[in-house]
Parts: sequence; structure tokens; C-alpha cells
Amino acid sequence: MEFSGKVVAITGAGSGIGAALARAIAKEGARLSIIDRNPEAAQAVAAEVSGVAFSCDVTDETSLRSAISETEAQLGPIDCFVSNAGLGRGQPDHAASASNDDWQLNWNVHVMAHVYAARVLLPAMIERGAGYFVNTASAAGLLNQIGDAAYSATKHAAVSFAESLAITHGDEGIGVSVVCPQYVATPMVGVGEEEAAAHETLLTADDVAHAIIDGVRAERFRILPHPQVSEYTELRAADPDKWLKGMRKLRSIANAKFGTPGPQHFYKLV
Ligand SMILES: NC(=O)c1ccc[n+]([C@@H]2O[C@H](COP(=O)([O-])OP(=O)(O)OC[C@H]3O[C@@H](n4cnc5c(N)ncnc54)[C@H](O)[C@@H]3O)[C@@H](O)[C@H]2O)c1
Repeated sequence: MEFSGKVVAITGAGSGIGAALARAIAKEGARLSIIDRNPEAAQAVAAEVSGVAFSCDVTDETSLRSAISETEAQLGPIDCFVSNAGLGRGQPDHAASASNDDWQLNWNVHVMAHVYAARVLLPAMIERGAGYFVNTASAAGLLNQIGDAAYSATKHAAVSFAESLAITHGDEGIGVSVVCPQYVATPMVGVGEEEAAAHETLLTADDVAHAIIDGVRAERFRILPHPQVSEYTELRAADPDKWLKGMRKLRSIANAKFGTPGPQHFYKLV
């Protein structure tokens, strides 16, 4: 799908990858709806891209539904919906130590928000025989994020839901891409873009935005801004025990080097 002339709505577009994608897609000639729970951030990005802004918590189905219907009232039918909002809190201790609230929040943002968007948009898209979903998961949705079981489990679920969309609706004119980056220099990871210049494994949000545009243009299901993720998924599939051994080794190196490592450390080790 080409973005020129299309109506594109992006969640989590007030920051990071979503904001970079909005800017890059606007340059392609699309009309943008900027959806974020942070109203000032959404307004600022919308002003840059001459788009419309909506303050919306994507875990609230009613609020997301109304951002979608308001977008369509102002810009016309949505051609492409990008479910990109996300968060990473890490786990305080062992793999089951995050609170139930944290697990539920990860589930609601990383999975249910994608379901809500598809639920409201699919009927009209199917009727038109055209529509596109871009769902931002993570390399953690194909592999794992050490130290964040809730993030990893829900990103796996996000990949699975995107697969269900593609299998069920691919023959009805609906395109689906799932975006699975490793580390990206955004506020979520808490490292600046200057770090990306020094580390090959750390991309900028702009790099990811361009990988998404290329992937959607090719209508590729799995978009891997870090190409090495493809090789890692093959290694994991070929020998899960060997892969787990490697992950445990990586975890112990990270623990020895950083104490309590988070995403802001791992790009230095992968
Ligand atoms: N940065 C990375 O290394 C990385 C790697 C893989 C995947 N991702 C994924 O990319 C996506 C974007 O992350 P980012 O790195 O740009 O982070 P970011 O923190 O820069 O941006 C996330 C945006 O989502 C918004 N948001 C969060 N929860 C929301 C909610 N409930 N409702 C509405 N908006 C909400 C935030 O306000 C923020 O503007 C996320 O899904 C994240 O999991 C990021």
C-alpha cells in the first residue's frame, strides 16, 4: 500500500516511533490522525503534520471508538490504522513479580487496544474491500525481553492477533503488518538518539518509521527494522533449548554488568 492520499490514524503518536512515523507518512502525502493519551504531545505532532489530534486512552474502548469516528468525520474513512501505543515497566523481581495491575495494563495496551481498533474498523473495510492494519509489537513478541515477562507475553499475543487478522481477512482486501523492532532510542527506552549513532543495534525512531513505510509498501506481514531478528527467530525455532541457554547467558552477563538491567542496557549487549 502506498500512503499518498490515504487517511492514516496512529496511536501513541505523541512520541517516539509513532511521532516519527506520523512525520514520515505525512511527507508521503497522507492525512494524519494523531491519537495519544497525552493531549499536549498529540496536539504538537498534529500541528507539525497538519493532522488532527485526539486525546485518548487506547485501553478505553469507548474513547478509542470515538477517536476513530471523529477521525472519519473530519478526514474520511480510515485507510490504515496503526496500533502503536505501548509501555514497558519491567518486573520488580522474579518472572511473576509484576503486579496484576501491570499485567492487565500490558494486556490492555498491547492486545485489547488492537482488538478494539479492528472491531470498529473491520466491517466497513471489508465492505470496501480495502484497509490496512499496522500493529507495533516488538522483537520481544517473537523472542523475549529479559526482565519483563508481562511485556514479552503480551507482545507475543499482539503478534498472534495480527496473524489472526491476516489469516481471516487477507482474502477480503485487508492488509496487515506487524512491526517487531529490537531497541529503538525513544523515551520508552530512555536513551537519546546520539546513542544510536554509536550502537548498530540501537535504531532511531526515524529508522523504524522508514522500515515501516517500506514494509507496508511491499505489503510484508512481518516488518523487522533490525534484520538480525529474523536470524534469531530461526535459531530459536531450530533449537529452543540452545536458544534458552543463550538467553540465560545473556541475562547473567547483563546482571553482572548492570545490576538490574533494563532495555536501556540490552542494546549494548545484543
Ligand atoms: N523503543 C523501543 O526500543 C521499542 C522496541 C520494540 C517495540 N517498541 C514498541 O513501539 C511502540 C512505541 O514505543 P516508543 O518506543 O515509541 O515509546 P514512547 O514512550 O516514545 O511512545 C509511546 C507513546 O504511547 C503513548 N501511550 C502509552 N499508553 C497509552 C494509552 N494507554 N493510550 C494512548 N496512548 C498511550 C504514550 O503517551 C507515548 O506517547 C510501543 O508499542 C513499544 O512497545 C518499542
